[in-house]
Amino acid sequence: MPDIAIVPAPRELTVTEGQWVCEDPLAEAVRTVVENLGETEYRIDVTPEGARLSAGSEDALRHAETTYEQLLDAAVPAEDGEVAVPAVRIADAPRFGWRGTMLDVARHFMPKDFVLKVIDVLALHRLNVLHLHLTDDQGWRVQIDAYPKLTEVGAWRPQTMVGKMSHEQAEFTYDGTRHGGFYTKDDLREIVAYAGDRGITVVPEIDLPGHMQAAIAAYPELGNHPDQPIGVRQIWGISEDVLNVNDATVEFVRTVLREVLDIFPGPFIHLGGDECPAVQWRESEEAQKRQAELGLSEASQLQGWFTAQVSSVLAEEGRRLVGWDEMVETDCPRDAVIMAWRSAQRGEVAAKAGHEVVMAPCESVYFDYYQADPATEPLAIGGHIPLEKVYDFEVIPPGLSAEEEARIIGTQCQIWTEYMEGPEQVGYMLLPRLSAFAERAWGSPKTSYDEFLTRLRPHLTRIERIGVNYRPLD
Ligand code: ACM
Repeated sequence: MPDIAIVPAPRELTVTEGQWVCEDPLAEAVRTVVENLGETEYRIDVTPEGARLSAGSEDALRHAETTYEQLLDAAVPAEDGEVAVPAVRIADAPRFGWRGTMLDVARHFMPKDFVLKVIDVLALHRLNVLHLHLTDDQGWRVQIDAYPKLTEVGAWRPQTMVGKMSHEQAEFTYDGTRHGGFYTKDDLREIVAYAGDRGITVVPEIDLPGHMQAAIAAYPELGNHPDQPIGVRQIWGISEDVLNVNDATVEFVRTVLREVLDIFPGPFIHLGGDECPAVQWRESEEAQKRQAELGLSEASQLQGWFTAQVSSVLAEEGRRLVGWDEMVETDCPRDAVIMAWRSAQRGEVAAKAGHEVVMAPCESVYFDYYQADPATEPLAIGGHIPLEKVYDFEVIPPGLSAEEEARIIGTQCQIWTEYMEGPEQVGYMLLPRLSAFAERAWGSPKTSYDEFLTRLRPHLTRIERIGVNYRPLD
């Protein structure tokens, strides 16, 4: 049995008789898009006569290619400079349409070149969505021509807290170092094109109406206390400084979103919706007036109204709204895609409510959580998600009907970067957990963790070739 290490493992792989001896198996393989395969399906047939890659679409052919390149690592030298490729038959297709990774570039800015490497990592694992968390309290990372201060002011913080954040803490210590950065529209278009060439859709997130302190720092009139200007947030946690619900703020956000839509041509736009405290709305006369006008019984219901006002820009352009699972409680449109993060059970609730759902539960796929004993690991936000737990992740929560199950369109792992200052730390937290995650997202047969490790060990060399850090295996 040849040492075939393909990650994620194909749904069906059969080693057949013999081997194909040739000079250059990459150049000599025959590749075709065929009509008799489904759009996401591909086949690889290696026989002593040659190799054929066939697929139902160009995207699926790209997957065939990625798998084939990994298969070629099992080729062995033959005579006269030729190589012998093991004969196999692979029949493969992904289980889920949304196989994503979220990268938070707001808490710590990540250089464009690193984002491109993350895209290479995604492509290596046949993942197809890069969700960029572009804005948060601690930084605004996307150039917006109509509002230059979003990046002139909002992309920079004078310093950052040091150590582990706790909301009970009265005082913080800071590093005294300015941090920031942003992507120009050209940078983002380059990222989108680079991803597109690899079959990956970039989903931008403008998190609102909470997580907006950096924007409010740049334009105090967006906040509920414009007479008390605030800075870009220097600590982690949840800020009470959320957008106000005035008409002018709605218009501001709509203008921002039009520019965002112009940069990102993909079908999905994420508008956050998580962790939006209503404290300031309860205190604000203007918000109370708006609440009364709308006949809402509770200030927190303003969130749904606000999101509806701004998200109509998406509908006008034929794009779909994506939001974190809090959005289900805010009377959001039924066609919004819900990203279940607080628990798998939140995904179940969203699917039962008729939403399409991406499963991103913190207990399984939050890669900012510790992956081993905190005493021996770099500082992280908390939790405990070792590699084996990711390998064992079940994307579909129990208790769904077949119809509800069909609404689970995929899954996504998350890298929140409060405790990751740059690419080295991100790589360490992302990999190789992403490799285990890719197996579940693709729907690879679940064999055993040991079998997975056997394939993962040689696979780490491929990650090294891309030039991204990873946590060595124990
Ligand atoms: C989240 O982790 N606040 C989506």
